[in-house]
Amino acid sequence: MGTDALTVRLENINFRTKEDLTEIIRSVKGFEIMSLAGHCNLLIFEIGRDHESDFRRIKEIKASGEAEEIFLTAPQSDSNLIIRALRAGVKEFFPQPLKRDEVVEALLKILQEEQQEKEQVLTKAAKGKVFTVLGAKGGVGTTTMAVNLATAIAQFEGNPSVALVDMNLISGDVPLFLNMKSVFNWVEVARNISRLDATYLMTILQKHVSGVHVLPAPLMVGEEAGMTPDLIAKVERVLELMRSIFDFVVIDGGQLLGHISTYLIGISDKVMLVTIPSLPGIINVKKLIDAFRDLGYPPENTVVAMNRYNQKSGISIDEVRKMIKKSIRWSIPNDYRSTMNAINTGVPLTKSAMNTDITNKILEIAADLSSGQPAREKEKKSFFGRF
Ligand SMILES: Nc1ncnc2c1ncn2[C@@H]1O[C@H](COP(=O)(O)OP(=O)(O)OP(=O)(O)O)[C@@H](O)[C@H]1O
Ligand SMILES: [Mg+2]
Repeated sequence: MGTDALTVRLENINFRTKEDLTEIIRSVKGFEIMSLAGHCNLLIFEIGRDHESDFRRIKEIKASGEAEEIFLTAPQSDSNLIIRALRAGVKEFFPQPLKRDEVVEALLKILQEEQQEKEQVLTKAAKGKVFTVLGAKGGVGTTTMAVNLATAIAQFEGNPSVALVDMNLISGDVPLFLNMKSVFNWVEVARNISRLDATYLMTILQKHVSGVHVLPAPLMVGEEAGMTPDLIAKVERVLELMRSIFDFVVIDGGQLLGHISTYLIGISDKVMLVTIPSLPGIINVKKLIDAFRDLGYPPENTVVAMNRYNQKSGISIDEVRKMIKKSIRWSIPNDYRSTMNAINTGVPLTKSAMNTDITNKILEIAADLSSGQPAREKEKKSFFGRF
């Protein structure tokens, strides 16, 4: 029997019925009969002559959670007994001699319910949101956005769990932005894929004081620079697992090229394209928007952020909107001092540049993306106190 089999225990059953039940249960795939006492998925119990003591026992089983479901059997059918059994929370009642079909059907129903429950857990688990931050070109503030959005979301009401993955193969510097030493990167995690489960992953991810769990990028030079299909497949598994563990997975995508970017775009709930008010930046954003649309990615999931924007930019948001044929969801003020200081001290903006326009904008974007809201003052203080 596989390890996933549901366990059944037979208690108080007369010899003849026990033989019948054993044979029937064995004929239905997915159950395993337990010989010892202890917790089981299904308990089958026979009501003997002493109804009072038998129902006391059922009550006890129910209360202790010893069995998830209970089937009853009795030497004869008796409507009072059936009513009493149902009231006691028993799932099925089988008079003897057992009708094979009825028992099989009830067992299949249990299997089906169990399966449905598993699927519910899985779909619930897969609900983490993935945000990929992509730069229209190098140096536009992609990492600044990814790092500061992730740390901002992590301090929101209810402390959502947040992971930050650095997918920048050329200059993966997320740990630097957070003043952390890079320990395990995702190539090393992917290599250990046979051990990959939530527990293993959580021990490997580094936790920042903001609560964000960080997965750094490898430095890929020379031969390693190419993402092989095998490596991409493994990285995909790592990200899938992360999505099932965390409420939010923020990815610093750098300037992605090749197959992994197609995959990242595909799994992302939102792709944030970061650009600056310069002609090359705007032209590249337009190219990326068109490319994503051609890939079949829903246009509403691609959002544009205009970084380093100010009145002196020489080009208005409206002009950019006309050029790229898409609205600019957010524009982030130019604040070299705060961003540079945040990078050089390794402290995110929400802590190092409180109440500045840029930080307020970051909080606004984080709230928009995550549908969350900043924590109230009291909670905020304790978060900051942790730095
Ligand atoms: N809103 C802003 N105002 C002023 N300067 C900014 C702003 N955002 C980012 N910068 C500056 O731009 C520089 C590049 O930022 P960052 O490293 O985040 O960009 P990047 O797109 O990730 O770069 P790379 O291509 O190297 O990955 C940094 O010096 C940072 O201080
Ligand atoms: Mg970067």
